[in-house]
Amino acid sequence: MATSATICELSQHVGQTVTLRGWLYNSRSSGKLMFLVVRDGTGLCQCVLEKTDATAGLFETARRLGQESSLAVTGTVRADPRSPGGHELAVSDVVIVQNAAGYPITPKAHGVEFLMQRRHLWFRSQRQWAILRVRHTVVEGIRQYFNEHGFILIDTPIFAPAAGEGAQTLFAVDYFGEPVYLAQTGQLYVEAAMMAHRKVYCFGPTFRAEKSKTRRHLTEFWMVEPEIAYADIDDVIALAEDFVEFVVRKCLRERRTELEMLGRDLAKLEAVRKPFYRLTYSQAAEILHSDRVRQMLIADLEQAKARVAELTKLIADKEAERTAAGVKEWKADKLAQEIMDARDELADQEEAVHNIPHHIELAANFEWGSDLGGSDETIIARLHEKPVFVTHYPRACKAFYMKRNADDPRIVNNLDLLAPEGYGEIIGGSQREDDLNVLLERLKEDGLKEADYEWYLDLRRYGTVPHGGFGLGVERTVAWICGLKHIRETIPYARMMGRIYP
Ligand code: 4AD
Ligand code: MG
Repeated sequence: MATSATICELSQHVGQTVTLRGWLYNSRSSGKLMFLVVRDGTGLCQCVLEKTDATAGLFETARRLGQESSLAVTGTVRADPRSPGGHELAVSDVVIVQNAAGYPITPKAHGVEFLMQRRHLWFRSQRQWAILRVRHTVVEGIRQYFNEHGFILIDTPIFAPAAGEGAQTLFAVDYFGEPVYLAQTGQLYVEAAMMAHRKVYCFGPTFRAEKSKTRRHLTEFWMVEPEIAYADIDDVIALAEDFVEFVVRKCLRERRTELEMLGRDLAKLEAVRKPFYRLTYSQAAEILHSDRVRQMLIADLEQAKARVAELTKLIADKEAERTAAGVKEWKADKLAQEIMDARDELADQEEAVHNIPHHIELAANFEWGSDLGGSDETIIARLHEKPVFVTHYPRACKAFYMKRNADDPRIVNNLDLLAPEGYGEIIGGSQREDDLNVLLERLKEDGLKEADYEWYLDLRRYGTVPHGGFGLGVERTVAWICGLKHIRETIPYARMMGRIYP
């Protein structure tokens, strides 16, 4: 009797006969050998079936199996460094659970739109499998960090009666005839709980009606928001730094294989050690105006133009090769995938050629008082090989609850953390305005109704203390750690403008 095993445990079964239960990832045969690559959720394993008199029938059956057929494969485990997980199975039996025909995601080339429409199946592909496992570990790391540091979990409501961040990105829902909103943040609610428990956090989905399609914005995303009492901006920065370092190091320890599968440059993640860099907003503005940035962007533009020319030629060459007479089907498929990848990169490079002059303009004309835009953040982040905090923004471009700076009332004690390699803001936070009168002024300034925030104002009436916290977006963090260009693959079911299926 063969024992049942999973692929990730095969190292404990070398030389034994085991049964793997999973799905057929792909297969090929060459003469008397058939290679069944089986996945079982824990990994991939190449299973080798040799055609003999005894297995001839089995060989025929296995040959007819469609991609993603569910099956049980029995065989002897051999260590083999060339096999995907380091082990191979010498097959003695195959039992079919279901022979699946016509699985739509084939080894042929597919565009992202096609794959996003089939997200429920795309999960099974290796890259997607790796990404969601990294996400799992990021989420686990978040919970572990706060739980191990004495924070109390406070679940905050999703139905919110008023705006928590900007009023422009609210999703209104009908609440028994009353208009209410899907939560943009749990912050105001954790501030109240912080007064009871000192160190608290909330962690859940948040919603923003982002009306633009970007690589960094979802309409539904997960955010963790710690809040601490008796804290100033430096305490909040120290917490954010320690926390982000912890999460990155956990991924490096526990998801090295997955990150390698994704082609992530691990040295870049290894460099994420405390202390991170710190800049004030005013220093960031100076950098944007510098000649160094201008030269960097001009060089980017030249490089993008050269790459466009290179890719255009590459695509034409591969296209000619693919459509040439007598080309083998597998070769044509491989070329089609390469062409599709090259077209994706070409689209990115063309976009860069189009956008960089605009980014040069934006950086050069950046005015003190406006918020840093996505391209500005990218520029600042690229100049630092570790995450960088940008602090002390002008009050006018930030939320009402941020603490007015004691020395300069034009600025607030806030922090944004920009991830390196141009990934942009992953954390936004601040010390909070703890003075009732200043807070009342700010509500007025922002045109917010005092009545909506009565309960929040109570926190400044009864035992107010200096305090602060931040929010970290899970998906942007996963995109950065995995090295992905787009946020859409970092969440199981992405919700963005124009995407609500499946
Ligand atoms: O900077 P934000 O808007 O800060 C807050 O919501 C504060 N109330 C947090 C706090 O102080 N407790 O958002 C925080 C983070 C961003 O840095 C980003 O990582 C993520 O949430 N985020 C988004 N992620 C994906 N899609 C979007 N549309 C996002 N908007 C914000
Ligand atoms: Mg922000």
